[in-house]
Amino acid sequence: MPPLKVPIGHIHVSPKARRYVLDVLRTGRLSYGPYTRRFESRFARMHGARFAVTSSSGTVALQIALAALKEVHGWPDGSEVLVPATTFIATSNTVLYNNLRPVFVDIDPVHYGLDASRMERHITRRTRAVIPVHLFGQPADMDPILAVARKHKLSVIEDSAETMYARYKGRWVGTLGDIGCFSTYIAHLLTTGVGGINTTQDPELAIILRSLMNHGRDSIYLNIDDDDRTGHRKMRLIVKKRFSFVRLGHSARTTELESALGLAQLEESFVRDIRIRRANASELTRLLSPLEDRMQLPSIRPGCEHSFMVYPIVLRRGTRKDRIVEGLERRGIETRDLMPLLNQPVYRRLFKLDAREYPVSRWLLESGFYVGCHPGLGQPHLRAIASTLRRCLGR
Ligand SMILES: Cc1ncc(COP(=O)(O)O)c(C=O)c1O
Repeated sequence: MPPLKVPIGHIHVSPKARRYVLDVLRTGRLSYGPYTRRFESRFARMHGARFAVTSSSGTVALQIALAALKEVHGWPDGSEVLVPATTFIATSNTVLYNNLRPVFVDIDPVHYGLDASRMERHITRRTRAVIPVHLFGQPADMDPILAVARKHKLSVIEDSAETMYARYKGRWVGTLGDIGCFSTYIAHLLTTGVGGINTTQDPELAIILRSLMNHGRDSIYLNIDDDDRTGHRKMRLIVKKRFSFVRLGHSARTTELESALGLAQLEESFVRDIRIRRANASELTRLLSPLEDRMQLPSIRPGCEHSFMVYPIVLRRGTRKDRIVEGLERRGIETRDLMPLLNQPVYRRLFKLDAREYPVSRWLLESGFYVGCHPGLGQPHLRAIASTLRRCLGR
């Protein structure tokens, strides 16, 4: 029998999801409509947020979050935004798209979030915001980050592309800062193919975000229902303004098809799937604990929840990563590097970064990788990961 494959991600399209997608195709309503409204309001409710706004990717969610805050606060071009030195490249790219400057801050060596104790050394009079990233499924340590942000009057954008339905000391990710940004890309916790979601408690920001992902339209007309069932005077105003663009926006809408897929998952499998992820991660940690002298396994910050989008492993000094990763891949166990950012060719050209300033990120880059722990994996897969790692380490 060929060895069991252990992929990084997994997708299951349930009969309900198929039904919803077919319903969209049957009605022919593809643009923003009832499925997206239900998807947004359910996602917002599940995260204790007043508003959720869908767009075409997590990257767009970040990009328009920055644009909205830049507009509201009048940040000049070239203002600085703190971002962790270990994250997916989209976090810092979106800072650049907004004519702002990313300033990298190292991460904490146990939970891998932006290290609040290192923020102040990077803050200048041009610093306007910080983007803590809830990496791998675990919230960053928000209380100290928020305290520094408050002290220096910084806006806070949560990059929660990898973390949903997790609480930090009782508060949901996506509601801890000014705007939360989520991704529903393939292999994420909620998968619609492509997609992003912003959450906020602020009605003014919600309106600006919706306008920004819709070409910067006047908020009087943001979807084709806005001119239905309205009085004569309002209708005249809408007709006058529906082709009025009040800010530089983007074409970043999704369709009802993505929302149909997302809504079906939220209604029937999302919470259960996250529970399975947590159970899989806990089982992996149990199986791998005899190897802890050679590798750092993920740990959960006290008082917090971890949604385990992936299962990160960082080898301790003295153990070579290439041999281990090769051994896993040869056995059919997929791995990925832990978000290498500082060494990216494009960033080497753009920035003069001194890797010595980022010892933790450097360690993750040299010695870290992740494997999957999604609901498509069961005991045999988890055992295969553990036994392969044991063999690679000669145990
Ligand atoms: C931390 C982080 N931020 C942003 C993104 C970008 O999301 P998307 O791929 O939906 O544009 C990702 C995506 O994978 C991510 O992991």
